[in-house]
Amino acid sequence: MDKWNSFFELVSTRRSIRKYADKPVEEKKVQMMLQALRLAPSSSNSQPWHVVAVRDKETIEALSRAAPIGSRKVISWLKGAPLVFVLTVQRKLTHRITGTFGHNNLGLDAGIGGQHLVLAAHALGLGACWIGWFNERKVRKLIGLPGSYQVVSLIPCGYPDHAPDPRGRKKLEEIYSVERFGTK
Ligand SMILES: Cc1cc2nc3c(=O)[nH]c(=O)nc-3n(C[C@H](O)[C@H](O)[C@H](O)COP(=O)(O)O)c2cc1C
Repeated sequence: MDKWNSFFELVSTRRSIRKYADKPVEEKKVQMMLQALRLAPSSSNSQPWHVVAVRDKETIEALSRAAPIGSRKVISWLKGAPLVFVLTVQRKLTHRITGTFGHNNLGLDAGIGGQHLVLAAHALGLGACWIGWFNERKVRKLIGLPGSYQVVSLIPCGYPDHAPDPRGRKKLEEIYSVERFGTK
């Protein structure tokens, strides 16, 4: 149990970070975050991920403007990030098959891989934030994404320049049952 205490510290201190110090992220740390994603489990070991690590200021600026129409300002803070990971996935045969049973394993694979990267960022003293609010067509164009891939999230990353209070969470009792749904 003791061996994994640092894991509980890691998950309980992580926050979505939206303000970044004016300091680049070392290439070694970028590689470590990508390694963490690479080691994530995925359905049928399909490893559907491809991450585009964007450091170019002009591209980051353009990404910060790639919001859905009518919501231009929502992700404008992104331009302050020294690095933006664009997390993409490619649908594989296993996802098509399990999709016919109504399972969204591609979505699960995407989320698990992305969260490995986000937790690795925190473990390395960096901050990151999932972004689901973007115009996919604009993002695809900016990174030259081939048609068989889809954009999952923009994940800006950098050294934190704020320390947000924890966001509220449901009570533990609200999120589980014992033996049957709704019983304890
Ligand atoms: C799939 C997903 C999409 C998200 N999209 C956005 C977003 O578009 N903009 C944003 O500022 N935060 C976004 N967030 C961050 C959440 O708002 C944040 O995780 C939540 O409020 C809890 O705060 P915490 O991460 O600091 O614990 C997203 C988080 C997830 C997991």
